[in-house]
Amino acid sequence: AIIVLDFGSQYSRLITRRVRECHVYSELVPASTTLAQLQENEHLDIKGFILSGGPSSVYDEHAPSCDPAILASGLPVLGICYGMQLLALQMGGHVALSHGLREYGPATIEVVEDAAADAQNFRIFEGISASPEQTKDLDPEHGSQTLRMPVWMSHGDSVDRLPEGFRILARTDSNPVAAIAHPRGYIGLQFHPEVTHTPQGTAILRNFLFRICHCEESWTSGKVIEEAVELVRERVGNERVICGLSGGVDSAVAALLIHKAIGDQLTCVFVDTGLLRAGEREQVVETFGNHMHIPLVVVDARKRFLDRLANIVDPEQKRKIIGEEFIRIFEGEAERLAEKNGPIAFLAQGTLYPDVIESTSHDTAQTAKRIKTHHNVGGLPDEMVLQLVEPLRMLFKDEVREIGQALGLPDEWVWRHPFPGPGLAIRIIGAIDEERLETLRTADAIVIDEIRKAGIYRQLGQAFAVLTPIQSVGVMGDGRTYANVVAVRAVTTGDFMTADWARLSPDLLGKIANRLVNEVAAINRVVYDITSKPPATIEWE
Ligand code: XMP
Repeated sequence: AIIVLDFGSQYSRLITRRVRECHVYSELVPASTTLAQLQENEHLDIKGFILSGGPSSVYDEHAPSCDPAILASGLPVLGICYGMQLLALQMGGHVALSHGLREYGPATIEVVEDAAADAQNFRIFEGISASPEQTKDLDPEHGSQTLRMPVWMSHGDSVDRLPEGFRILARTDSNPVAAIAHPRGYIGLQFHPEVTHTPQGTAILRNFLFRICHCEESWTSGKVIEEAVELVRERVGNERVICGLSGGVDSAVAALLIHKAIGDQLTCVFVDTGLLRAGEREQVVETFGNHMHIPLVVVDARKRFLDRLANIVDPEQKRKIIGEEFIRIFEGEAERLAEKNGPIAFLAQGTLYPDVIESTSHDTAQTAKRIKTHHNVGGLPDEMVLQLVEPLRMLFKDEVREIGQALGLPDEWVWRHPFPGPGLAIRIIGAIDEERLETLRTADAIVIDEIRKAGIYRQLGQAFAVLTPIQSVGVMGDGRTYANVVAVRAVTTGDFMTADWARLSPDLLGKIANRLVNEVAAINRVVYDITSKPPATIEWE
């Protein structure tokens, strides 16, 4: 494994993902993690370390540092940005402060002459050639030996005295020390190889992984499945497991992995809250029950949810009621199953690695302000005595999709947009009743259908319809109508923390609007939401 120490950069997680994309297992750990702590986990075959960037300055009073034992371990260390400065400082060099001045953005690094002559030092840039548009920058007198390449720079402070045995590999116009190396496998890069704005970044990371750390490409979906299955078997033994299916990809893949591991010791429970999208319940039954032959219980709780939600307008109130009701129903079902078939010891959850990273105390992590309570993330009731089994807790979303595919989950599930736990309830602004639910469900299906037909479903982070509480006047045939306004929302996003409204083509928007007003009697006007997040959120409630 490659261990990434998190010094608080917004890119720390991305480094871990990039390493895994190269089929090398990687974990992100808080900066304060010691070598001894890491060695406690005998499954971790550590091949090297990456020190991430971070917002601090190395001489700040509370600047995070790295366990000296890591640097002395004899394993290769790649320091990126702050990580490079820390590496230089802790190895005996010196850093010049910029006092808050930061240069952030595109830059061009130039490999210093004769750096390439020292093969031992140069492995981080080995085999990397200048891209065609850079060749014209080359100095004709010196032939084409000088490597220049575009990088994404983030540089405030800079290394101004190298530790012993280090040498400079590259510079930029404004920074004479853009990359450093020591023959024993210490590398410092002042720029960010992990971002796509550094086009040769992946090649540089690959050099670190394969030429310097001698990693093997062993992190593949086959291997991930094999290991997860093994871990589930170890943890669960002969006990029984219950797993709630939500209709989303995470719980589906968790269920498939567990079923592969322990077969019919697993029972899946699907609660039909009545707040689901069109056809969702049927799909769950078809895929899991009929196709995959996983023991499945479907609970029809539509009336219970509708009754409890009657006249509730406040979004947080809706979330609270739905969360509580869901857990109550789930518990009831677990008890019923236990009475019927014997005790259940485990609850399966589709927790992903980003949730795990967020909940471990990273030194520099900011506690994000709670904007909306997300009920299905976290909160198990105290009285529930089930142990957790979380087969996805070391996986990123894209890895979950990949193994879902490998396990035979239909494409439609694998690539499904996320859907909030409280479902359509928070897409009906104001009070919820059966009629409004049906209106929104039909509208949503039309929006998604047109987006799929346009071939852009996968490019979007989320797309859906919102039923507003506004009634507007329209005209249809000879008659005046007074009906609902529906809003269409479509966003592009990487991590759902920020999002931009999708530039859907006017033709597509026209088609969607046309179908909505023609096919859904309760709708006579359609608007498109063109706010980004922030300041808006993705959902309307
Ligand atoms: P917002 O609206 O906060 O949404 O920009 C960000 C992402 O979270 C989803 N979301 C929820 N998911 N329970 C959930 O499970 C909730 O209460 C909830 N509220 C929002 C939203 O769909 C988007 O993907």
